[in-house]
Amino acid sequence: MTVPGLLSDLEVLRKDFPILSRTLANGQPLVYLDSANTSQKPQVVIDTMVDHLERHNANIARAMHQLGAESTAAFEHARDVVAGFIAAPSRDEVVFTKNASEALNLVANTLAWRGEHQVGEGDEVVITEMEHHSNIVPWQLLTQRTGATLRWFGLTDEGRLDLSDIDDLITERTKVVALTWVSNMLGTINPVAEIARRAHEVGALVVVDASQAVPQLPVDVTQCGADLLVFTGHKAVGPTGIGVLWGRREVLDALPPFLGGGEMIETVTMARSTYAGLPHKFEAGTPPIVEAVGLGAALDYLGHVGMEAIHAHEQAITGYALAGLETVPGLTVLGPRDAAERGGAISFELDGIHPHDVATVLDTRGVAVRAGHHCAKPAHARFGVQSSTRMSSYLYTTPGEIDALVDGLLYTRDYFEVG
Ligand code: ALA
Repeated sequence: MTVPGLLSDLEVLRKDFPILSRTLANGQPLVYLDSANTSQKPQVVIDTMVDHLERHNANIARAMHQLGAESTAAFEHARDVVAGFIAAPSRDEVVFTKNASEALNLVANTLAWRGEHQVGEGDEVVITEMEHHSNIVPWQLLTQRTGATLRWFGLTDEGRLDLSDIDDLITERTKVVALTWVSNMLGTINPVAEIARRAHEVGALVVVDASQAVPQLPVDVTQCGADLLVFTGHKAVGPTGIGVLWGRREVLDALPPFLGGGEMIETVTMARSTYAGLPHKFEAGTPPIVEAVGLGAALDYLGHVGMEAIHAHEQAITGYALAGLETVPGLTVLGPRDAAERGGAISFELDGIHPHDVATVLDTRGVAVRAGHHCAKPAHARFGVQSSTRMSSYLYTTPGEIDALVDGLLYTRDYFEVG
């Protein structure tokens, strides 16, 4: 199958991911279309993590011995890799967290404290109706606690942000604008830099959830308009248990610590403590060490393949999938129909069949998709549905796998005798 824009040597690349060659019950080959949920891992990530545990395992920073030094070096090397991958001006601006949710909670919690960026009564926080719950609930908690007001961009019928009222929504009262770069449900790629320009005109901070963007697009934090940006490792061929908060140094310096504990301090007395500098101020306790090391290997791997090439591949597969899904009678795609404006997640409804049933029948054919609300209940409510079925592709997805999905959906219709 020739689809322009695909990664060359896709079959060779797929061999880097051992799980992709396993078979499921009844000898079915795995067709993994759930990468927005979590991505599969290349052998180099697995090997790097095993090697760390087999040969270098020790706590970081605290251990005065060779293994401690090796482990610390591996952990801090991972920070360098992350900084390079997102073009961070300084490695000190890269904070390791356990996931993107923790990074967003760190920001939303510390903004409640007195200081330059404090969010208080009368202030406003602006989010969007397409956010993952991780970028909604922390802001609800912040605004409820502080007496600030939560506002949001609505969505157009095509699943884009409705920017028609941007000047009414982002005003002198706005302290924070928090939005996703790429929607995990609608697939929409948002004009983050344009929205950031307006936010900065009124002095608001821009917080970007790049959980779906970092795996799929070239990300340069100095160009996208973010003051703070978060992502998670496991969607970017890395392990679970590791996330990243990047922030402009001045902003991170102005925020108080989030969690207190070991290694985030400068000194502690019974009465008070002073805090370590960036990034350690935000890394209390023993961090996810091998997970960070694995993330470093993951981003090195993606960088080696090339983020421009991965983005082109995603767009090619997404265009192919949108065309294939159009051939399924009774199927409605939620979100933009143009692959150029989309990431690799496509949520859809199949008339008359519950998404859980769609996913269950597809699973019997080896096709793994997600069904439910994808942690984006408000976006589903906007389109009048409780839930949807979602396919999501990644750098290893082939046109043949999309064909298997489309065949599976036609089979599902027959199975339920719909139509
Ligand atoms: N946020 C992940 C998803 O969209 C879990 O599936």
